[in-house]
Amino acid sequence: MTVLRNARVMTCDPARAGLGVIDRGAVVIEHGRIAWVGEDRDAPAAGLDLEGRLVTPGLVDCHTHAIFAGDRAAEFALRAAGRTYLEIAAAGGGIAATLGPTRGASDAQLAALLAGRLDAARAGGTTAIEVKSGYDLTVAGELRLLRIVATVARGRAQRVIPTLLAHLVPPERAGDRDAYVAELADALIPTVARERLATSVDIYCDVGAFTLAEARRILGAARAAGLGVRGHVGQFEDLGAAELVAELGGLSADHLEQVSDAGIAALARAGTVAVMLPGACVQLRLPVPPVERLRAAGVAMAIASDLNPGSSYCDTLPVQLWLATTHFGMTVDEAWLGVTRHAARALGLADAGAIVVGAPAALVAWRCESPAEVPYRYGSTALVDRVYGVATS
Ligand code: NIG
Ligand code: FE
Repeated sequence: MTVLRNARVMTCDPARAGLGVIDRGAVVIEHGRIAWVGEDRDAPAAGLDLEGRLVTPGLVDCHTHAIFAGDRAAEFALRAAGRTYLEIAAAGGGIAATLGPTRGASDAQLAALLAGRLDAARAGGTTAIEVKSGYDLTVAGELRLLRIVATVARGRAQRVIPTLLAHLVPPERAGDRDAYVAELADALIPTVARERLATSVDIYCDVGAFTLAEARRILGAARAAGLGVRGHVGQFEDLGAAELVAELGGLSADHLEQVSDAGIAALARAGTVAVMLPGACVQLRLPVPPVERLRAAGVAMAIASDLNPGSSYCDTLPVQLWLATTHFGMTVDEAWLGVTRHAARALGLADAGAIVVGAPAALVAWRCESPAEVPYRYGSTALVDRVYGVATS
């Protein structure tokens, strides 16, 4: 049994208002679960005195592309010199440039790279993390990536949530897109569902990636196979994919720099989470997503790292909290819910992102006293005091 006493406990419990902060609180962990949470004066046992420091739910990173080999630092330098992401992609860079190194890496190499990134995320407070496939793009290769994710996930003190990502039509299939889309819908997705290699299917529906009609076919197959539905939507152009994801009862629509009022209304109606990716947005110098309109429509917002070798090589969430509050105009409360409760919802996890009795005991003790201090003192790894996570498989 672990008892944390005299802490400012930010529960994120939906039954409490706002962030559900208990100013002088205590938490009891037993057998890997939250056994008790409440006012310190009512705590059932003696324990560790946190001297008023902040305790939060473990952070949930709901959008990462953490399994890849190689890097694209040269593209970063080109963008710093004024080239755009889409120009670089059209010239053969971008996602396609990560396919070769990833396909060429052994299982052991990819496993080591992924484990290193997950360790870094955990050190930054991330106790649940989504990992998308999407840097092989052959049927066999995508299955290989997801099997490696499953192997690395086993026994970690961190939840890993695998997603199949239809990222792009790979260059070698450019001449037969329709057959490629059919392979994904008719072979890859049913196999992934049967072997339980992912809980959701995500699609990059945008200029230079999949069309809306292709997205409908692929996400429709995901639904039919009983998998969750998510979308990279409106990063560069609004193709109407927010409406499609909402229509299919999708878990989340991510990016959303370009989205119409009709798209926002559809997300609100469907209860689909809008995932903000401020690191990628800033790095690609894109316009800010319409946070005010999303808020006014009542769409739940999450925030993620988008860890990937192209647009956001970032493995932790506190810096994303800073960008969300300073650049996107989200409040501190919205930002925190975005990396806890709302991020869990984007992953379909009912028991993550809040300190409530019965939930797995995933939490972070911080070396500061208030929720605002984490984004305020951005970039400081010294703020994470201790991460409590549980092995779930
Ligand atoms: O979320 N936009 C598509 N996918 C990634 C970028 C992937 C890459 O450039 O390798 C994103 O930003
Ligand atoms: Fe992404």
